[in-house]
Amino acid sequence: MKLSETGLDARLVASLRREGIETLYPHQVEAIKKGLLDGRNMVISAPTASGKTLLATLAAHRQLALGRKVLYLTPLRALTTEKFQEFSRVFENSERAVSIAAVSGDYDDPGEWLGRRDFIVSTYEKADSLVRHKATWLSDVGLVVIDEIHMIGEKERGPTLEMTISKLTEIIKDAQILCLSATIRNVDEIAEWLEAVPIVSNFRPVPLIEGVVRGGTITLSDGTTRRVKATGDPLTAVVSEGLLGGGQVLVFALTRRKAESYASKLAEVIPFVAQLSNETKAALEKVAENILESEPESPFSERLGPLVERGVAFHHAGLGLTHRRMVEEAFRSRILPVICATPTLAAGVNLPARLVVIPELRRYDPHYGPSSISVMEYKQLCGRAGRPMYDKVGYAMLIAKNKEEEEYFLEKYVHGEPEKIYSCLGSERHLRSHILSLIASELVNSELGLRRILSRTFYAQQFGARIIEERVDTILEFLEENGMIRRDDGVSATPLGRRVSQLYIDPLSAIRIVQYLSDERRMTVTGMLQVICMTPDLTDYGLARIRRQKIERYIESVIDELVEPPPDPAEDPEGYEFFLDAMKNLSVLREWIDETPERRIYEDFNIEPGDFAALRERAEWISYAASQLSLTIGRRSLFKAYETLTVRIKHGVKNELLELVSLPGIGRVRGRSLWNHGLRTLKDIEEASVEELSRIPGIGRKLAEKIKKSLPRVSSSSEK
Ligand SMILES: Nc1ncnc2c1ncn2[C@@H]1O[C@H](COP(=O)(O)OP(=O)(O)OP(=O)(O)O)[C@@H](O)[C@H]1O
Ligand SMILES: [Mg+2]
Repeated sequence: MKLSETGLDARLVASLRREGIETLYPHQVEAIKKGLLDGRNMVISAPTASGKTLLATLAAHRQLALGRKVLYLTPLRALTTEKFQEFSRVFENSERAVSIAAVSGDYDDPGEWLGRRDFIVSTYEKADSLVRHKATWLSDVGLVVIDEIHMIGEKERGPTLEMTISKLTEIIKDAQILCLSATIRNVDEIAEWLEAVPIVSNFRPVPLIEGVVRGGTITLSDGTTRRVKATGDPLTAVVSEGLLGGGQVLVFALTRRKAESYASKLAEVIPFVAQLSNETKAALEKVAENILESEPESPFSERLGPLVERGVAFHHAGLGLTHRRMVEEAFRSRILPVICATPTLAAGVNLPARLVVIPELRRYDPHYGPSSISVMEYKQLCGRAGRPMYDKVGYAMLIAKNKEEEEYFLEKYVHGEPEKIYSCLGSERHLRSHILSLIASELVNSELGLRRILSRTFYAQQFGARIIEERVDTILEFLEENGMIRRDDGVSATPLGRRVSQLYIDPLSAIRIVQYLSDERRMTVTGMLQVICMTPDLTDYGLARIRRQKIERYIESVIDELVEPPPDPAEDPEGYEFFLDAMKNLSVLREWIDETPERRIYEDFNIEPGDFAALRERAEWISYAASQLSLTIGRRSLFKAYETLTVRIKHGVKNELLELVSLPGIGRVRGRSLWNHGLRTLKDIEEASVEELSRIPGIGRKLAEKIKKSLPRVSSSSEK
């Protein structure tokens, strides 16, 4: 079916034509025929790269024309940006101007400004936080799109997604719900939950050929076999073949170390097989240079740069964000032929790969031992190959060590169906937080109301309402005992409960924080950091790999400053381990706010930039939450102390630099440089000329001008 025959608005059709879309794919036609444009709820399960976003575009266009807003939920910040750009392009020439916003993070922002936007792209968690802040514009939303709905089955993030959907359908009863997902087995169940029409399709505009490599032979999904033409061990040979004629290859590794070692191995052959033009070589050199310059402190810089020069990069969550984005960008712009990545890349943005190689399917989990990846995950990884704009066909290859493995891979993965998706809402930790948020945002005001909402969750549909029912009693009691809710005629949140819900932290974290805030003893900075590090919200983050003796020695050295001493390891071995883990994070953060150079932190604590950044971001948030909770319970002095600590964690500076880091472009390094040159306060900066400022190492003329320009604003806001 041609787009022009659908009766859609001519401007939209023209705009889509510019995106290369003229004829609708079969499942797109089916969705329209089954009521996509009449406001029907839908769950679409179709292969990767099959054009699911277009369905959202079409439904959005209709809702916008009706004067309703669109809320588009995605699992990742990077995806939020990508979708924002995509929709901005498509709706650029609409009859009525469509204003689009992308939001993520900053969970304590009520987001009222979004009321002036028509189309809001948001991460799941941000949308949940907007509900918690009772954003008034939510009732104007006519369409909620949930991208990657299969995430509902993820242990950590699934419960939030599920509850956010439940909350949104409660607030906006008449909104159209459109769920998009790659192939899932129990689409019907999800559709039933949302009273939606299921659309299932196996259509993929660019065919994907899956196969298993063993020795020098490839067995494809259709049963045919052929020899691998290139030489070398199976990984090298398959990758080499994939590079012929300018193809790009993604190799998926299940651990960070494996991703790095595959990259090193492939770097030995890629320059000879990839036939890089001189232009590409020069571009790769430039990327390598940028890698070194952008994160000079990262222990990865010196390793990643030379590999990129040879045409291959590794990519995993241990890398800093700048490095990750540079690698993705080099691949997307077709300069970099190969990336060896952990699966975190698969959940991310669109990348043009002709071939995906998965050398191993087993991974080792320190808690559960060895396990194999799920078929669902395997299909997601494969789906990165063969994106419409770049290649006519995509390939995905597994590597088997022996005949037995080959048969197993073919049966379980290549011909296998993805697993069913199960709700994970049963976990008490998640329920606790969401029950509080339902009460705090006044979506329910009685126990009956609460039970009614919970009985309509996907969890209740799959497992029956009884298990949740049982948990509800325990959780309500717990929240009441800890002063977060009141139960009299109905059920309502206390000011503390309301604030905890808005701050988006685990109620257990809040209890710990409040317990120490209420303690009249004076708190040292180390003590305050300890409070943060002992909260369940922080214990999973970026644990540095520090030797036991070292951390035990450290505990000894700060014991007088701690708010809580270590438990006796003989009496409470588990508690002691938990304490050690918290102290690892504490010691790293302490070095950071005392201005220890980043490079030394990475070396001394054996922590990687990506994990360190995640730890800092989380710690900053919990510290901010502690400052806000101090206000709620009326301890103003601690509010100030935690507010200061929050800025110190954000910038990694001592107290004396706080004024300087409020300037744009000034962080811990440049701030210290200014300080060492005698410029120590905003007043000093005001009195210095642009010339004087430009002479300070690390501050060029451009930055000096920017700083000067920002001054009136900065000083007036610091006076407030
Ligand atoms: N009918 C069409 N004709 C031509 N191109 C199309 C059509 N529909 C979508 N496309 C293009 O296909 C590409 C992939 O689409 P999209 O990003 O929506 O994939 P997806 O189904 O969401 O995949 P994933 O599951 O990987 O997110 C886009 O570049 C889009 O412009
Ligand atoms: Mg998509």
